[in-house]
Amino acid sequence: MSTTTELTWNEKYLTGNQDIDDQHKRIFDLLEKLNNQLKNNEEGNSMAIEVVMDLLDYTLKHFIFEENLLELNDYPDLTKHKLGHDMLTLKVMQYKDDIDANKEVNLSELKDFIFEWLTSHILMVDMQYVPYLKEKKS
Ligand SMILES: [Fe+2]
Ligand SMILES: [Fe+2]
Repeated sequence: MSTTTELTWNEKYLTGNQDIDDQHKRIFDLLEKLNNQLKNNEEGNSMAIEVVMDLLDYTLKHFIFEENLLELNDYPDLTKHKLGHDMLTLKVMQYKDDIDANKEVNLSELKDFIFEWLTSHILMVDMQYVPYLKEKKS
């Protein structure tokens, strides 16, 4: 189970690209908001559902932004990077469908899943384009 401190954005996630960092921070903010909602309220309440939908939508928007940025910069590993995003996108769409269909969704499990995925993706996959983009800029 993730603790609140772990859910907070921290400098180790810095990519040096302002837009990307702002977007990653916003995803962490939404995760933290969701975490607080889940702590204070019952599972499946409408406020938490709203935050979950924001979180899922924003994450997908971030993927599109990031992929466009990498494409504009002719990033050679874009296809591989996109595959990683696509895997999470599929899972996110499933969650969204289940929520839309009023199926029971375990929101804290969803939160933990997104958190685990996000942190390892930022640290292990997003970080791979950091030196490339820096080089491109100079
Ligand atoms: Fe990414
Ligand atoms: Fe990212």
